[in-house]
Amino acid sequence: MLRSTFTPIFTTFPAKPIFPKLSLSTCNAIAQTPPPPVRQNASTKTTTSKTPHPPASAYLHLPFCRKRCHYCDFPILALGSSAQVDNDPRIVNYIDVLSREIVATQVEMSQCVPLKTVFFGGGTPSLVPPKLVSSVLEILSSKFGLCADAEISMEMDPGTFDSKKLKEFIDLGVNRVSLGVQAFQQELLKSCGRAHGIDEVHEAIEIVGSCGVGNWSMDLISSLPHQTPEMWEESLQLTIKAQPTHVSVYDLQVEQDTKFGVLYTPGEFPLPSDIQSAKFYRMASKMLLDAGYNHYEISSYSKSGFECKHNLTYWDNNKSFYGFGLGSASYIDGVRFSRPKKLKEYMSYVQDLEDGTTESCEDGGVDSTEALMDLELESEDDYVDSNEAAMDVVMLSLRTSKGLNLRSYREAFGGSLVISLCNVYKPYAASGHVVYMDQDRREIVADELEKVLLDEQRMEEELAYIRLSDPDGFLLSNELISLAFGAISS
Ligand SMILES: C[S@@+](CC[C@H](N)C(=O)[O-])C[C@H]1O[C@@H](n2cnc3c(N)ncnc32)[C@H](O)[C@@H]1O
Repeated sequence: MLRSTFTPIFTTFPAKPIFPKLSLSTCNAIAQTPPPPVRQNASTKTTTSKTPHPPASAYLHLPFCRKRCHYCDFPILALGSSAQVDNDPRIVNYIDVLSREIVATQVEMSQCVPLKTVFFGGGTPSLVPPKLVSSVLEILSSKFGLCADAEISMEMDPGTFDSKKLKEFIDLGVNRVSLGVQAFQQELLKSCGRAHGIDEVHEAIEIVGSCGVGNWSMDLISSLPHQTPEMWEESLQLTIKAQPTHVSVYDLQVEQDTKFGVLYTPGEFPLPSDIQSAKFYRMASKMLLDAGYNHYEISSYSKSGFECKHNLTYWDNNKSFYGFGLGSASYIDGVRFSRPKKLKEYMSYVQDLEDGTTESCEDGGVDSTEALMDLELESEDDYVDSNEAAMDVVMLSLRTSKGLNLRSYREAFGGSLVISLCNVYKPYAASGHVVYMDQDRREIVADELEKVLLDEQRMEEELAYIRLSDPDGFLLSNELISLAFGAISS
């Protein structure tokens, strides 16, 4: 069975992906373990070669929310519904620490290029006063530079902004809004513990439209407790009616230690069965495709040209990215690094960064300072070896409709791995879950494929991409990716 994937890759892997949730293990492996991040002060010597693409993307975690949603296990700080966010010292102090982290991050001049994408994720970044967001953007700009046409995204929740506030964000350069709607039914919003109701959802959509935001996304969650097919269809219809340029559809992940984790068991009432979840996934795929959206990634749909450039960085061939802020992940030069998820530890991490006591050793180990040893308790880093890199590339590429580029894969990891992968997926081409394509992205049909797979030279010359079909292959993504892992590690 399968399950849709929720995995925004931002915090751990900067945004928990949402795979079809058949088996959550693989999905969690990405989401909860960062894709490769970086120890900010790390030496550049790693087990993989230095990245050909210096990081041009930055994820910034702004962890404040009014309250914690019942499904949420992200590193957030709940401010309470009555807090005056404009002068809240918790926000001011956090932005100060975040700014210090950016400034203290060591970047080799040769690796410093202007940022092409910036993503403010949370939490609820739209709770943060614009003047504080402005100061963060200024620091980013003076440290790295910002491309004139940089995509600057911000997650915003209904009920946390009005036209005036949104216009201020736009004036600062925010040009992509990601609206966390989740559902269009008051009872579902309430049972999820959302801090807003359905009226604020409609109001937020209205504000985004009236402020002329031309590039905006809506987040929806399927498989919520008590969610019926009729409710899901209504949410999709109202989403389409609102005309966002991008839609993210996440299948509910019931995380341990959340209220939902305590109350519910996946697959058992009031949660839908796996079969019902798969129907939700298919319904989203069909309705959004019919409405003119491209299903360009397992949980992402967009109108042409409105793919999220920032998220594409995560999925595209192991590209590097910075992560700043509580719990955020980065990936630089083949090194993954996740910052501490607890505020106190994150603050001491930044202090250590400023003091220069978080240095990694040249051999890929970490130095033995006491500060760093403490840090290791709360943060994770991980030098990515070649096998892991090969798995990361498969896992990330197969999330996308573009699929795995076999030619670059052969160059990076060798021809025998490509042959193994092509053979392991052969039965799934016959069942329609995996599609083999030539250089012009034309599908190689069954009879022809049979012959090509018998001849290594033809494989090399004729097979250019493998992708998962939509929706059947995407729905089976966890199993299919696990198969690839088996082939890579054997
Ligand atoms: C970091 S969250 C965005 C936070 C934003 N304040 C919000 O909740 O709207 C990014 C998106 O991940 C999705 N999400 C978070 N936790 C999830 C879970 N346990 N299962 C499925 N989707 C989840 C939601 O759709 C959310 O909008």
